[in-house]
This record gives sequence, C-alpha cells and structure tokens, in this order.
Amino acid sequence: MSRMPLISELLGIRYPLIQGGMAWVSDAGLAAAVSEAGGLGVIAAGNMPADALRSQIDRIRGLTQKPFGVNVMLLSPYAPEVSEMLAGEEVPVIITGAGDPARYVDAWKRRGSHVLAVVASTALARRLSSAGVDALIAEGSEAGGHIGELTTMALVPGIVDAVELPVVAAGGICDARTVAAAFCLGARGVQVGTRFIVANECAVHENYKNSVLEARDIDSKVTGRVTGHPVRVLRNKLVRQMLREEYEPGGAARIEEMGTGALRRAVVDGDRESGSFMAGQCAYRIDRAQSVRDIIGELFDAAALGEIRRELGRDLP
Ligand SMILES: Cc1cc2nc3c(=O)[nH]c(=O)nc-3n(C[C@H](O)[C@H](O)[C@H](O)COP(=O)(O)O)c2cc1C
Repeated sequence: MSRMPLISELLGIRYPLIQGGMAWVSDAGLAAAVSEAGGLGVIAAGNMPADALRSQIDRIRGLTQKPFGVNVMLLSPYAPEVSEMLAGEEVPVIITGAGDPARYVDAWKRRGSHVLAVVASTALARRLSSAGVDALIAEGSEAGGHIGELTTMALVPGIVDAVELPVVAAGGICDARTVAAAFCLGARGVQVGTRFIVANECAVHENYKNSVLEARDIDSKVTGRVTGHPVRVLRNKLVRQMLREEYEPGGAARIEEMGTGALRRAVVDGDRESGSFMAGQCAYRIDRAQSVRDIIGELFDAAALGEIRRELGRDLP
C-alpha cells in the first residue's frame, strides 16, 4: 500500500483536521475561527438555498484568507441549486454528505476545488474513488447527526484498504488519544464535529452547549432507524417520544413529522424538550467550553501525542 499524503498537505493547512460541517451549527463564524487556527473550517449548507449559502461564503471570505470548506448535504431539496452555484464559486474545499456526488465532481474540480465525500460503507467508498474525489471521510456511527451502521474502529481500516486515496476518520474523535487512534487505523486526518459545538466561537444557543456539557454516556441515542435515516442525538423528551413510537404502526411517518424543524428548535430556540440536540457519543467526555484555538491545541497536544508514541513503542510486543 502506497503512503497517502496527509490531509493537511493535500489541502494546504497546518493541522490534519477538518471541522465537520454541521447543519445549523457550523456557520461562517465558527468555520473562519477553525481555519484561522490552522484546521479546515467548514460551513454547512444543510437545508439552505443557494443565495443564503452564498452570503455565508462572502462572509467567510471577509474573515479569513485561509482555506475553508463547504459541506453540501445531498439529501437537501436545495442540493441541486447549491451544487450548481458552487460550480461557479472557486470554494477551496467541497465536502459532500448523505449521498453520491459523482455527477458534480468534474464541474467542481474544474473550478479548482478539492472534493471530499463522507462515506459510511466500503461500497460507496469504492464508487466515489472512481468518480475522482480527492479524499474520503470515513464516518463511524459514534458521530453526531445522520449515521451509518459501522463504528469508526470497524469502518476506517476497511475504507483505507478499499481505496487508493487519503482517508479522514470521523466519529468519536475529541482529544489527542482519539486523534492518535485514528492515525493507528490508517487515517491521514481527522474530522471533528461534536467538540466544536461547545467552542466559544460557535453561535448555537447556550442550552445546546449545556446539553453537550452535561451529557452522560447513556444519553447518546439513535432515533429514526425505522425511517432509513438514523440520527444520533442526546436524550430528551422528544427523543424518548420518538423511541416509544418508532415501531408503532405509522411510526416512520410520525418520526419524520416530529423531526421536522427539530434541529432548528435546538440550535436557535434552545428548546430542551422538543429540540433535536444532535451530538456524538463522545459528548459525555466533553466538559468545558473553550476557544477553537484551545480545542485544536488539545487535539494535537504535542506532549500527549509524544507520550502515546512512547507508550506504543514500549508496550506493543
Ligand atoms: C449537529 C450536527 C449536525 C451535522 N450536520 C451534518 C451535515 O449537515 N452534513 C454532514 O456531512 N455531516 C453532518 N454532521 C456530521 C459532522 O460533520 C461530523 O462528521 C461528525 O460530527 C463527527 O463525529 P463527532 O460528532 O463524534 O465529532 C453533523 C453533526 C452534528 C453533531
């Protein structure tokens, strides 16, 4: 197996770190702070129409000269117009989630964008590697938001072996130990979402940050398996109700109904009862609000990573 470049080399950034695009959560302000601190900040298009996304892109260009990314959620009804718009924008990095971007890859690359795709299975990884993407993000089911079936531990080495592309690991990465673990699995970079929700520069409602900071390990739940679009969230009244009704007759339709607008209710209104507080399994390990710079400093803490290297050298037979 040939040695793949680090994602930081490929994208021209300091740390091999992508801030995961998070619908409603990662706007130009958070993304600019991450890019300024040496990672790749990513604006989430989520369900935005193209003009709303273009104003976020204009905003980030006023905040940083460093590379940034846009995450296109292919399930969005606006995905076609957003994808067309991006083909004219020269955005440094375009990342797709929730689907197959093959038909847009050439147009985006002609404008000089690097194109990355989030995958949760080896089948999609293989298909996209022949569609010309520059790297893949293998997202395990520990992650917050929409998830696949396999965990990061099971998925990442399988994708690394399946494709001749750099692979970025996502799902459950929140400190130097989990960064090191991702590299042990063959990843050439990491994508982190949940830990950035509590960043000082993240503009979500205080109640959202507090729900992450207060989460216990048993609060991480998956709703909507019955709909075919499972989502990892923190337990609250809405989630308990969804889990009760999921397998009742008409459950899938009820889940869709209850989920509509629920992420907005969490992010904007801070509605702790009926909002959807999407977050990964590692939420229970996050106990402090910090600046983006401090979070990245801890993820790539040289002393902690050095100690892990020494221990691996000493302990592995
Ligand atoms: C609130 C929230 C919203 C998300 N929205 C998106 C999205 O719109 N598109 C996408 O590709 N991934 C989305 N994700 C996944 C993240 O980009 C990232 O891969 C994931 O958070 C990494 O796992 P972690 O939460 O354990 O750090 C979302 C995650 C969260 C927590």
